Amino acid sequence: MAKKNETIIIDGRLVSAKIKEEIKEEVAHLIDHHDKAPHLAAVLVGDDPASQTYVNGKEKAAHAVGIVSSIYRLPENTTEKELLEVVNYLNNDDEVDGFIVQLPLPKHISEEKVINAINPAKDVDGFTPINVGNMVLGKPAYLSATPFGIVELLKNYGVELEGKHVVVLGRSNIVGRPISILLSQKGPHANATVTVCHSRTQNLEEITQSADVLICAIGVPQFVKAGMVKEGVVVIDVGIHRLPDDTKEKGYRIVGDVDYDEVSKKASYITPVPGGVGPMTIAMLLKNTLLAHKKEIYK
Ligand code: GUN
Repeated sequence: MAKKNETIIIDGRLVSAKIKEEIKEEVAHLIDHHDKAPHLAAVLVGDDPASQTYVNGKEKAAHAVGIVSSIYRLPENTTEKELLEVVNYLNNDDEVDGFIVQLPLPKHISEEKVINAINPAKDVDGFTPINVGNMVLGKPAYLSATPFGIVELLKNYGVELEGKHVVVLGRSNIVGRPISILLSQKGPHANATVTVCHSRTQNLEEITQSADVLICAIGVPQFVKAGMVKEGVVVIDVGIHRLPDDTKEKGYRIVGDVDYDEVSKKASYITPVPGGVGPMTIAMLLKNTLLAHKKEIYK
């Protein structure tokens, strides 16, 4: 049997660093030409540690590329009405190009109501119905960070999608659903035949075995095993989980939705966890902020 070609590890840290460097250069150019720096705001309600880490990471990354960042920290007992007032304030603040409301929100606040209140022109998370609708219709829209990041990774590694069978595991509003739409659309870096699988899918292995590209966003640690994929598959792993591991200093290790050790032996390209899709998300948020500042999506 002929020897299998090398597996290429899709390096999200490298690609995100490249994108951030491009953003940094563009921001510097704007400032040199007497424009203001783009401004990203984030609203954080309560003190969920994971959300604090995300928001602090976003602020640090924004500063590193010259984007102004402000964080609105609101207490856990903020009412829905008060949060809607902050959203309304940011919608009308000409100093702010784009903003995000960090999710999850406390239980007593409707995420749907809050997202619906965000001005789509400032919705750099791409979560509002207008941005989702425009994305579905193939119109200019802010793409949410994870699907946008996956598209950029595939583009950067020259993964051919035209006519290929892409299988998406998971149908969430922020990953599975949008990536399935983007990759099946007409156009460059798309034109794929897409199958979306979910918890009710029958004969799952049969479907995953026929995948040329497998995008895994189901939230189950190491769910995808070598027997589920064909030789040469391209694997994009969106999962991120902590597994207890006494051999590690921290007492855990990070794994994805894919059993990396097994599946990487068969894959032609694969994203590692950590260091694959994860680092791309903040870079794409910064990119959306720059687009918002330049009013490229909504004039
Ligand atoms: N919580 C986890 N990820 C995200 C994200 O990308 N945006 C927002 N607003 N909240 C999140």
